[in-house]
Amino acid sequence: RAFCPKGRCQGKVNPNIKKDVAKVVDSVDIEDITEKAAFCRCWRSKKFPYCDGSHGPMNKELGDNVGPIIVKHK
Ligand code: FES
Repeated sequence: RAFCPKGRCQGKVNPNIKKDVAKVVDSVDIEDITEKAAFCRCWRSKKFPYCDGSHGPMNKELGDNVGPIIVKHK
């Protein structure tokens, strides 16, 4: 499957992001978000931690419904 490269999806949420570290932790300063930002929750974005829309084709292939969390200023 395209979304499970090299069989890495077996029981894992994260198939291929920063696999060289023990724990993936990202920090974003709220001041750097100008209007809004979409953060990936599917672990498939090539712009992680930001959403790049990869959840769409993944949902279609896997029959799932995950999407980003959007942070925005009021
Ligand atoms: Fe992962 Fe959009 S790419 S939630």
